[in-house]
Amino acid sequence: MAVQAFHTLWCRGLIATAAAAAALAAIEAAAAGRPARATAKPGLSAQVASLPAAGQPPSSGRAELGQDKADAERCVECHGLQGQGAGHPNGAEARVAKLAGQRASYIAKQVQDFRSGRRKHDQMAIVARNVADEDLHDIAAWFASLPPMNSGSTASANAAQGQALFEQGDPQRGIVPCGSCHGPQGRASEGSTADAPRLAGQEWRYLDQQLRAWRDGSRSNGPTPVMNQIARSLTDNEIEALAEFLSSR
Ligand code: HEC
Ligand code: HEC
Repeated sequence: MAVQAFHTLWCRGLIATAAAAAALAAIEAAAAGRPARATAKPGLSAQVASLPAAGQPPSSGRAELGQDKADAERCVECHGLQGQGAGHPNGAEARVAKLAGQRASYIAKQVQDFRSGRRKHDQMAIVARNVADEDLHDIAAWFASLPPMNSGSTASANAAQGQALFEQGDPQRGIVPCGSCHGPQGRASEGSTADAPRLAGQEWRYLDQQLRAWRDGSRSNGPTPVMNQIARSLTDNEIEALAEFLSSR
């Protein structure tokens, strides 16, 4: 009990980080010529729900109901009150995916895959079995409506190699440019393949881990085997460079 209370309080402390992310999102939104959505407090949620989130396909979920449900289903304990992930940025908890600004349809599909066992993760399997689909769609719509994920990391020298591979691929090794599906800069914008998730601003440790999982086949829940095929030819260095590039976007 005491540990739980401490954990919750500690997570609330992350609001400060989220506020910084919201400020950045406002700048990003202005640049993209769309209205900024700084917070998703209940009073604003009706407006939030009526705005199409960045690059999101329309979703059947009700974002205005999703925040309370994400709290009740304890998603925010691990994924953060603003979907920016919880935990110390250098700790193992940094491998919890950020969900803010992620496509709603992608979020819902992943939880359903954890439930069916198509994607494997012990904690998420338990969570997924306990959440009803209707609630899941509302929660997914709420996470999608939040200011987009932001890792706060800046591009390293290594990131340039990642950027080149992301934008141009490597035809000789059958690596299709990642951006052709994940959108320019990994923002999964309109016009990119609807199934591909947002990668920009995601935590680099999580991206690094997922690319290794696609490569060794321990993750294989894609609608097609394309992610496994592409990752198979990536070297460790390339995976690190891609993760660093994407998290700094
Ligand atoms: C106990 C901690 C915990 C809780 C509670 C939790 N998650 Fe997760 N979630 C994780 C971790 C850790 C991962 C990364 C799994 C992996 O490495 O494959 C994850 C992954 C995910 C993913 C995949 C993200 C991606 O980019 O592919 C989605 C979607 C997700 N969770 C949604 C939810 C929702 C919705 C809830 C509440 C109903 C929830 N989670 C509750 C820990 C948690
Ligand atoms: C042909 C389209 C396509 C191309 C090209 C592609 N991807 Fe993907 N990628 C997808 C799809 C679709 C998914 C989601 C699969 C699922 O439903 O789980 C995905 C998932 C991912 C994920 C998991 C994200 C998460 O939140 O868990 C990462 C990381 C990723 N791709 C990185 C890359 C990188 C890096 C490249 C280039 C080297 C690339 N992808 C090229 C379609 C593509």
